[in-house]
Amino acid sequence: MVSCPGKPVVLMIGVLMLRSASAQNAGFVKSPLSETKLTGDTFELYCDVVGSPTPEIQWWYAEVNRADFFSQLWDGARKSRVSISTAYGTNGVSVLAVTRVTLEDSGTYECRASNDPRRNILHQSPATTWIRAQATVTVLQKPTIAASEQMILPSDGHSPPISLQCNLTSTHNTYKESFWMKNGEEVAGTRDKIMNMEFKILKPKTDDAAEYMCVYTFEMAPPANATIEVKAAPDITGHKRSENKNEGQSAVLYCKSVGYPYPVWTWRKKEMDDFVDIDNSTGRFFIHNKDNFTELTIIKLDINIDPGDYMCNATNIIGSTYVTSLLRVRSQLAPLWPLLGVLAEILVLVLIIVVYEKRKKPDEVPDDDELAGPMKTNSTNNHKDKNLRQRNTN
Ligand SMILES: *[C@@H]1O[C@H](CO)[C@@H](O)[C@H](O)[C@H]1NC(C)=O
Ligand SMILES: *[C@@H]1O[C@H](CO)[C@@H](O)[C@H](O)[C@H]1NC(C)=O
Ligand SMILES: *[C@@H]1O[C@H](CO)[C@@H](O)[C@H](O)[C@H]1NC(C)=O
Ligand SMILES: *[C@@H]1O[C@H](CO)[C@@H](O)[C@H](O)[C@H]1NC(C)=O
Ligand SMILES: *[C@@H]1O[C@H](CO)[C@@H](O)[C@H](O)[C@H]1NC(C)=O
Repeated sequence: MVSCPGKPVVLMIGVLMLRSASAQNAGFVKSPLSETKLTGDTFELYCDVVGSPTPEIQWWYAEVNRADFFSQLWDGARKSRVSISTAYGTNGVSVLAVTRVTLEDSGTYECRASNDPRRNILHQSPATTWIRAQATVTVLQKPTIAASEQMILPSDGHSPPISLQCNLTSTHNTYKESFWMKNGEEVAGTRDKIMNMEFKILKPKTDDAAEYMCVYTFEMAPPANATIEVKAAPDITGHKRSENKNEGQSAVLYCKSVGYPYPVWTWRKKEMDDFVDIDNSTGRFFIHNKDNFTELTIIKLDINIDPGDYMCNATNIIGSTYVTSLLRVRSQLAPLWPLLGVLAEILVLVLIIVVYEKRKKPDEVPDDDELAGPMKTNSTNNHKDKNLRQRNTN
């Protein structure tokens, strides 16, 4: 340093020249949006900034009514309820997430971005080197809902009528309306303006087992909901009893079920009166499961090892059931069999004719001669007659 005092200055000028050649000030591509949440929920704020070099991103927070006093947030703050994940590429992208929110999490959240080389010099005012975008997060007390306990339908299919209930017992907001959902979809015709909701199922069947949800909506607050699970052991309602394929082709077996929760599916194969795990050493078996549906695909069918009974087993915490499908694999020549059959028939016919002809010939030869004699004479006689007649007419 002492030997060359001019060096830092030269470096600084170099950096400044480089910056002016390609620098681009930080700018927001996406800034965080204000939201209203209920206690216990999670919120996420997004911030996306562009600039060259890629800007640094920070998150800051100010309590309600104290918007002049910001403190910086870090990953793991508020007893690990705050998480910050930032990725720096051509853009800087950051997500701030706060889980299990409380009323005290309300306030102003600020995304700050800067690529100014002087941004972290303490005596610089941040206002001149950082750009900022703010979002207001409002947390409201979650309304309380008293809901029925979960229910389990008997597996014999004879359940007494069931009644699912939700009562809105406290709310700080203006109540709008309520409705029911089944497996994530609104049940048509259930919208109403009552606080004590009831959903009756007079003859519950296995396919009534589902995740039901009562939803209350409000004028100025997000909807609140409660979940009631109606569980039942799976019942397999569709499968192929048998499948006939040619060797080398692919076979597809499937099973679908009703019941809730959705089952865990397993496929097994019958070997000597026992169902065993499928041997996939040849890598030709593929299983595709989706909630209440499973599909087993076997490619390049092998006539020696693949035919047999396959079992699909549906199991959930309430119970277990299975069905079997019979796979038949025909030889590749099978499609030719009808043709071969016809050819064989023709061959047999030809043989019969030939044999018959051969056996007939020794008898027929003398017969022929016996017959031929008089016939010939007859015909010559006729000819003579004709000739005679012709001559006569001439
Ligand atoms: C809802 O309110 C009704 C009427 O007050 C009551 O009979 C029912 O038991 C309540 N249901 C629940 C799940 O609290
Ligand atoms: C139900 O409530 C939870 C928690 O408040 C919320 O995350 C979810 O989106 C709500 N679902 C519906 C369908 O309203
Ligand atoms: C299976 O689940 C899908 C969606 O998950 C649903 O649309 C379908 O009706 C269900 N089928 C049966 C038989 O329950
Ligand atoms: C069988 O093996 C193939 C190839 O290794 C693999 O892709 C497939 O997922 C396997 N199937 C099962 C049911 O494990
Ligand atoms: C079906 O699968 C379940 C879970 O793996 C198992 O407990 C049950 O014994 C199986 N049922 C049959 C008939 O193999």
